[in-house]
Amino acid sequence: MAFVCRNAAALLKTSRAAPTLVSAAARLCSSGVQYEYIMVEKRGEKKNVGFIQLNRPKALNALCDGLMKEMGEALDALESDRDVGAIVITGSDRAFAAGADIKEMQNQTFQKCFSGNFLAHWNRVSTVKKPVIAAVNGFALGGGCELAMMCDIIYAGEKAQFGQPEILLGTIPGAGGTQRLTRAVGKSLAMEMVLTGDKINAQEAKQSGLVSKIFPVDQLVSEAVKCGEKIAANSKLVSAMAKEAVNAAFEMTLAEGNHMEKRLFHATFATDDRKEGMTAFVEKRKANFQDK
Ligand code: HXC
Repeated sequence: MAFVCRNAAALLKTSRAAPTLVSAAARLCSSGVQYEYIMVEKRGEKKNVGFIQLNRPKALNALCDGLMKEMGEALDALESDRDVGAIVITGSDRAFAAGADIKEMQNQTFQKCFSGNFLAHWNRVSTVKKPVIAAVNGFALGGGCELAMMCDIIYAGEKAQFGQPEILLGTIPGAGGTQRLTRAVGKSLAMEMVLTGDKINAQEAKQSGLVSKIFPVDQLVSEAVKCGEKIAANSKLVSAMAKEAVNAAFEMTLAEGNHMEKRLFHATFATDDRKEGMTAFVEKRKANFQDK
């Protein structure tokens, strides 16, 4: 079932409205307006997993400007949807995404790139507060690999291939590839991939720590949704704090990161959900989190 949010997301973006209006806008998502380059719906038994599928099959899901703008709109809407506790981004069996759209970039100039801050809006994927899972089948190349790495968890299908082949086009990664890949797989492998353009397969990606799990191609998406459901069953409020704390490890010194973690840990004691979680344990029952 299509769960499409273009108008709602536009409204959310421009609106400084009260939370009730914002969630009303999020609910507009069921109004049936189609995106051009992506498909968006809610999956899982409780429909609490936002699901974004890249849908540009003829171009192997090359990430044209229109696609990334729609991605931002869909993420805005899912972020504002109180029922959604996690988001899965996936492509097709053949390609997660074969990179930024080379045909669109072919005639770009430095002047336009610089003055227009070319591709800056891609960053929206990495600023989502809700946990985001990339389910990667097939090619995840260039911007496709970078898109996966902006997500919080990467699951790979057995035939997935990851690479940063920009060097073969006379350019370099521009959406975090040199930074996130290096942090994920270490300097030597990152350098080798960025300097040669060579791809790594799913097994190599798993061994190097780029992905956390590998599944048969036809089970990948359902496993990613299951992971999303598991996350969505926890407190959304506390999950956002946990995500912020883990991400701090990539930005801060150990002392700063530990300090921030401690502050967030203390902050969980201001939530009803922390109390409910511990009370449920003591009472030997399942916690019923209210995201408060
Ligand atoms: C635009 C692309 C594309 C891309 C594939 N296509 N990748 N179009 N941008 N990144 C198009 C092809 O032009 C072709 O369309 C169709 O998809 C199928 O591709 P083929 O090459 O015919 O398929 P195949 O032989 O199976 O090879 C698959 C492939 C190859 C290995 C993935 O397509 C490839 O090398 N693609 C480019 C990968 C790449 O360099 N990515 C990095 C891009 S730069 P037509 O209509 O021509 O038949 C980048 C910079 C990021 O991402 C910077 C910051 C975001």
